[in-house]
Order: sequence, then C-alpha cells, then structure tokens
Amino acid sequence: MEHSRLSLLEFGISFICFFLCTQARWHNHTKHHKHNKNHRSSTISEPPTPPPEPADPSDGSGYNSSGVFDVRNFGAIGDGIIDDTDAFKMAWDAACNQVDPAVILVPYGFDFMIQSTIFSGPCKDGLVFQVDGTLMPPDGPDSWPQKNSRRQWLVFYRINEMSLQGGGVIYGRGEKWWDLPCKPHKGINGTTMPGPCDSPTAIRFFMSSNLTIHGLKIKNSPQFNLRFDNCKNVHVESIHITAPALSPNTDGIHIENTNGVGIYNSVISNGDDCVSIGSGCFDVDIENITCGPSHGISIGSLGNHNSRACVSNITVRDSVIRVSDNGVRIKTWQGGSGAVSGITFSNIHMDNVRNPIIIDQFYCLTKRCANQTSAVSVSEILYENIKGTYNIRSPPMHFACSDSLPCTNITLSDVELLPAEGYSVLDPYCWNAYGDSQTLTIPPVSCLMEGIPGSILNNDMHYC
Ligand SMILES: *[C@@H]1O[C@H](CO)[C@@H](O)[C@H](O)[C@H]1NC(C)=O
Ligand SMILES: *[C@@H]1O[C@H](CO)[C@@H](O)[C@H](O)[C@H]1NC(C)=O
Ligand SMILES: *[C@@H]1O[C@H](CO)[C@@H](O)[C@H](O)[C@H]1NC(C)=O
Ligand SMILES: *[C@@H]1O[C@H](CO)[C@@H](O)[C@H](O)[C@H]1NC(C)=O
Ligand SMILES: *[C@@H]1O[C@H](CO)[C@@H](O)[C@H](O)[C@H]1NC(C)=O
Ligand SMILES: *[C@@H]1O[C@H](CO)[C@@H](O)[C@H](O)[C@H]1NC(C)=O
Ligand SMILES: *[C@@H]1O[C@H](CO)[C@@H](O)[C@H](O)[C@H]1NC(C)=O
Ligand SMILES: *[C@@H]1O[C@H](CO)[C@@H](O)[C@H](O)[C@H]1NC(C)=O
Repeated sequence: MEHSRLSLLEFGISFICFFLCTQARWHNHTKHHKHNKNHRSSTISEPPTPPPEPADPSDGSGYNSSGVFDVRNFGAIGDGIIDDTDAFKMAWDAACNQVDPAVILVPYGFDFMIQSTIFSGPCKDGLVFQVDGTLMPPDGPDSWPQKNSRRQWLVFYRINEMSLQGGGVIYGRGEKWWDLPCKPHKGINGTTMPGPCDSPTAIRFFMSSNLTIHGLKIKNSPQFNLRFDNCKNVHVESIHITAPALSPNTDGIHIENTNGVGIYNSVISNGDDCVSIGSGCFDVDIENITCGPSHGISIGSLGNHNSRACVSNITVRDSVIRVSDNGVRIKTWQGGSGAVSGITFSNIHMDNVRNPIIIDQFYCLTKRCANQTSAVSVSEILYENIKGTYNIRSPPMHFACSDSLPCTNITLSDVELLPAEGYSVLDPYCWNAYGDSQTLTIPPVSCLMEGIPGSILNNDMHYC
C-alpha cells in the first residue's frame, strides 16, 4: 500500500455519523421474525419500508428449519441491477439474533447489488455468511450514493466467531475508481490530479474475533480487497484475489492492529501489496500463498508521521512470488519509533522479482523526506531458503537501514537469487545492516556487518 490508510479515528467518525443518520429512519420490523421476543437488532442495519414479504415463507420467518436465511426470502432479487441492500440487512438482523448458529445464504446463480453496508454485531456465535452467488456494489463513483462512505463497501463490525465462505464472487467493480483523475497517471495527459480520491475497500472486518474467510473469490476491488483492523484470531484459507497489475492500491490482504492471523493456500494477483502487515500486528503465519503480479509481501509501511509501530512474530513460508515489484519487504518511515522483530521468511520461490529481499528504513513517497534520527528498529530477521530469479533493474538484496538505529541480527541461510535475464550479477546493497549469512549465498553477501552496534544498546526508543 503506497498511500495513507483509513485510520481508526476516521472510521469512528464516519461510523458515528452513519449511526446517527440512520436512527431517524428506524421502524418496527420484528413482526416477520419468529424470535421477536429475543430480537436484538444490530445497531446499524436499517430495515426497509415497507418490509418485503418473504419470497418463500416456509413459516413466515424468512428461514427454514435448518437455520438457513436465504436472502431471497427477505426480498433480494439478484438481477445485478435492483438494489438488494435492505434485504441483506433484514437477513443479517434476523440471522444475527438466531439462537442456533445461522447461515445467511447468498445463493448461486444470482448477482446481488448492495450498497456500502456495515453488518454489525454482536451476533450469536457461529454465524455463517455463505456466498455462493455474486455480490457487487454500485458501478463506480458516479453511482455511489453521496451519503455512503467511499472508503469501504462491505464491513463486518464487532462480530465474534463468524465464517465468511463459499464458492461465490465478491466483485468490486473497481474499474471506474481506478480511472479517477486523482489516481496515478489518470489525469490529463497522464498526470495525477489533486482532488478527492477515496475508494472503497471491498471487505473490511473491524474489531472482530475468531473469523474464518474461506474459499471466496474477490475480484477488482476499487481499493484494498480484504482488510482487518483491530481483529483477533483470523483464519484466511483458499481465497483467490485478482485485480489487474496496474490497478492502484488494490492490496490483496491488509492487516492492522490484528493478531493471531493465519493466511493459507491462497492465490493473489493485484496492483499493490499481495499481503501488507501494518502496525500492531503479531503472531501472523502465512503459508502456501502465490503472489503475482503484485508488489509482494510487505511489513509496513511503519512509523509514518512519527508514529510508534510494533510488529513481531511474523512467518511467511512455502510461498511463491512472481513478476512482482518486491518479494519480501520491510519498509519504515524515518522519524517513527517502535520495533519490527522476530520475522521469518522461509522457503520462498522468487520468479522474476525486483527487490526479492528488501529492508527500507528510508521509505518515502516523494523522495524529499528529511533525514531524521528516530526510527522504527528492525531486528531478528531471518531469510532462509529464498531461491529463484530477480529482475536485474535492482539488486536482489537491499538492506537500507537507519543511520541512528541500524538493523541488527539479519540472518541469511540458503539464499540463491539469479538474474532473470543475462549474466550480470548485481551486488547486494547494505547500509548500516548488521547480521550474517550462515551459508554461502548467491550472490555472495559481504556487506553485512558483524555484531551489535553500540548505538542500539543505548537506545530505548525501540522497545514495544
Ligand atoms: C412491533 O411489532 C410487534 C410484533 O408485531 C408488536 O407487538 C409491537 O407492538 C410493534 N411495535 C411498534 C412500535 O409498532
Ligand atoms: C433450508 O434451505 C437450504 C438452502 O436453500 C437447503 O439446502 C436446506 O435443505 C433447507 N432445509 C430444510 C429443512 O428445508
Ligand atoms: C495534453 O497534451 C496535448 C498534446 O501534447 C497538448 O496539446 C495539451 O495542451 C496537453 N494538455 C494539458 C492540460 O497539458
Ligand atoms: C475466540 O475463540 C477462543 C477459542 O475458542 C475463545 O477462547 C475466545 O473467547 C473467543 N474470543 C471471543 C472474543 O469471544
Ligand atoms: C497450496 O495452495 C494451492 C492454491 O490454493 C493449492 O492448490 C495447493 O493444494 C496448496 N498446497 C498445499 C500443499 O496445501
Ligand atoms: C508466534 O505466532 C505463532 C502463530 O503464528 C504462535 O503459534 C506462536 O506461539 C508465536 N510465538 C511466540 C513466541 O509468541
Ligand atoms: C539521508 O541519509 C542518507 C544516508 O545517510 C543519505 O544517502 C541521503 O543523502 C540523506 N538525505 C538527505 C536529504 O540528507
Ligand atoms: C538472532 O535471530 C535469530 C533468529 O532470527 C534468533 O534465534 C537469535 O536469538 C537472535 N540473536 C539475537 C542476539 O537476538
């Protein structure tokens, strides 16, 4: 991700506004639900007026005895044109309060158009959101209602133990968003114009826990595809994310202030980071993912606007990165504080990647950032069995570390990176980088310094 992110604060403000704005249109809609005595409406969802009659009212409740809440039974049409938002909100409210684990079914063979929506909990544990059909938002910024957030489309808020799964497609219709004149090279004569540039993240989980995302395809998101903020225990499995290589800011999976994350057996090709790991993440395990084209797997950027960032215990293993701008990257801004430590990149195959291995403590979008002494420290980084080819436009290994706070304990083992074309081997680049290679690497690394620099021992800015 190359631009500023939606902060917690900004989310809070838009969230409160959304809440207040919808309160005025609150209606009594419990009469069509079976368990109206126990009905706790989610605070956000806004029921329609008048409520549609269930399409297939087995008992007038909108769900059958297996606890399946088919959105069509709440009035959803699924022709890709009619706005089905209200039906989804009703199905959500009904299923959310169901005593037994409930399934919200988005059936196969239908395209449901829904507006920017916050599906809000708490709900009964064990809710399943089963997407077998297609979900799509309005087509581009001109069809996006003015009152709706332009930063997010489908949001799940304060949910514990939910599974979002199925063989269906979350189709973000990002094309018109990517072409906004504010996006890189999209203004007049290939310039980038000033002006509002917000574009929605396709799926966002916020303050939720014990989540499973399984099997879905997410396609052409206007901006980030799948994002987790302030979540705990997240399992992402067998998902497939696609967006064109030149689509701006379409990060595949972004996590922030989130811990206990597993991302497995997934395929991502997009126009920005394949997976990006922001501040406040720890205990993250990524295994068997294929990235590319993309900007690779990235920890950061961290420490923007002199902020404090802590990231630890991250493992990326048994994965493939191809035709990407970066392989495995750690990027921090000057002026930040905090630490990145305990990072392992293991068994990663690179195929024609620029910067397969890169640490950049001088991350800067404008190339005009002032040098500062404070930095997010980087230590205990292990690269083992990283093999394949690199794009000869940049060196295969690049360790650019802070003058005041060098990187320490960088360990290389079984690293073999060959030029994708030709024979000219580029030397690894190091600046204030400490560590060692446990085996002979290709190309050989002679620029890492030994030991621990004295400046680190006296610096307590980097504790988390
Ligand atoms: C809401 O509906 C329930 C069930 O039909 C009914 O008992 C209640 O009086 C209604 N409340 C209002 C405010 O209309
Ligand atoms: C409930 O609906 C689901 C989905 O349509 C269906 O697979 C299931 O068989 C239904 N169960 C009953 C008991 O009707
Ligand atoms: C765009 O490029 C064309 C052809 O080079 C030129 O005539 C025109 O003035 C340019 N427009 C702007 C706004 O720079
Ligand atoms: C998440 O699941 C774990 C294990 O089942 C449980 O201990 C924990 O309480 C759950 N989290 C929340 C917020 O309920
Ligand atoms: C790795 O992920 C791919 C894509 O999802 C899957 O086809 C393959 O079976 C996975 N490999 C292993 C060893 O699980
Ligand atoms: C690191 O994270 C993994 C989960 O990815 C967890 O199982 C392990 O206990 C963590 N290690 C430490 C030292 O906390
Ligand atoms: C910042 O420091 C780096 C490394 O010492 C140096 O290459 C670069 O020229 C400096 N930039 C400025 C703007 O002083
Ligand atoms: C250096 O890192 C390795 C693994 O990355 C770890 O086992 C070792 O304890 C670290 N050494 C120091 C001095 O922190």
